[in-house]
Formats: sequence, C-alpha cells, structure tokens
Amino acid sequence: MMMEERYITFALGKGRLADKTLELLEQIGITCREMKDKNSRKLIFVNEEKRVKFFLAKGPDVPTYVEYGAADIGVVGKDTILEENRRVYEVLDLGFGRCRMCVCGPARAKELLQHHERIRVATKYPVIAKEYFYNKKHQTVDIIKLNGSVELGPIVALSDVIVDIVETGSTLKENGLEVLEEICPLSARMIVNQVSMQMETERIRTLILKMKELIPIREGV
Ligand code: PRP
Repeated sequence: MMMEERYITFALGKGRLADKTLELLEQIGITCREMKDKNSRKLIFVNEEKRVKFFLAKGPDVPTYVEYGAADIGVVGKDTILEENRRVYEVLDLGFGRCRMCVCGPARAKELLQHHERIRVATKYPVIAKEYFYNKKHQTVDIIKLNGSVELGPIVALSDVIVDIVETGSTLKENGLEVLEEICPLSARMIVNQVSMQMETERIRTLILKMKELIPIREGV
C-alpha cells in the first residue's frame, strides 16, 4: 500500500489577509468550500484530496504556530513578522495588503524628532518602535504600548507621536495627524516552518512557485 501523503497545514491571519490568501490558493487549485461559509464558527478546514488543512488564527499568533510546527505555512503581515520576531523562513511577498509603518503625529512634533528629544511614542508595535528609535535613529524615547486606536495618543496627550500602520492615510487626516517619518513598507508575506521546509521541500517549493506566478510584477520597485 502506498503511504498517504501528509497534510500541509496553513495558518492564516483572520480577516482581509485570509480572504485574499484563499482567493490566491483557489487560483492554484487549492480550494476549500466549507471555509467560505461566513456564518461558520469552525476554525479548521480540510481538503482531503490535496492533503491540505487550513486554520484561522489571530494575526500575531500566526508566526507562533509556524515556529512550533503546528502549521507548516503561514500568511501574515510583515508588521507582525517584525514584531513577533519568530524563527521562521519568510519566503514570499504576496503583494497584497500593501501599507507603510510610520511615525505619525501633529505637524509640530516634527521638530521633536529632528532634535532627538526624549519623546513619548504610543504604539501597538513596541518591538518595531524600539528597533527604529534605538537602533536606527539612536534616539532615546519612552514607548507606551497600546492595543488599538493608537491615533488617540497625541490627541489626548498620552504621547507626542505614534508608530502605526498607514494605508490610505484617512485615519490620520481625520484626526489632524500626519506622517512624520516612514519606517518601512509592509505587505502580506508567506512564512514557512524551518523543519517543514527541509522535509517537504518539493511540495512547498512548487506551491511558492505557483503563487509567485500569480503576483503581479510592480513597476519601479
Ligand atoms: C489600522 C491602523 C490605522 C488604520 C490605517 O487600524 O492602525 O489606524 O488602519 O488605515 P488608513 O491609513 O487607511 O486610515 P485597524 O483598522 O487595523 O484598527 P486598530 O486601530 O484597532 O489597530
């Protein structure tokens, strides 16, 4: 009897990224009908024929599942990869979910940044903020961790600036804030468990190549 192929398990960050990823997987023939049912509370889905499993997790937990091998592959934002700093391989920029990690604040805070003053920085991303201010700018700052609606920081005088994701810029604009400095570009990335990459090289490599073919080439990058 032939040995059954083992399952390849995907961990997807809940929300927009997962929807986009499923679209891409569908285009390369990996479908999962039951996952499309929006009313379902099910967390894990199986495609028996392709020997693939998917589960949905909170974005910041995706690199954790992949590092420990509970998932072979994960799809998650670059922001989460940088913040979580897990031992995983980042193998592909999927080209969607493009946005930027930025230092933002009221226009008057620009000077505080230029003069390297000891300022307060509110953020959901303390690791990224620390790396940027301490290691790149060599500016000592006080970092205040928040869990969302970070734009409130400068408005209610909790902080001088924020480090946050900017996509369209409308959240900033509506709150009288602006981009003061850009830290790095972000987008959805595919990550792979380090052992899985060795054990299932061919299957994973084929998958990466097929996904790559679907990603539009961007001009001028
Ligand atoms: C993100 C981010 C900004 C906003 C940026 O927040 O933290 O607040 O989107 O998008 P924009 O530039 O297109 O306005 P999210 O919606 O994830 O919620 P959060 O405030 O809970 O982090």
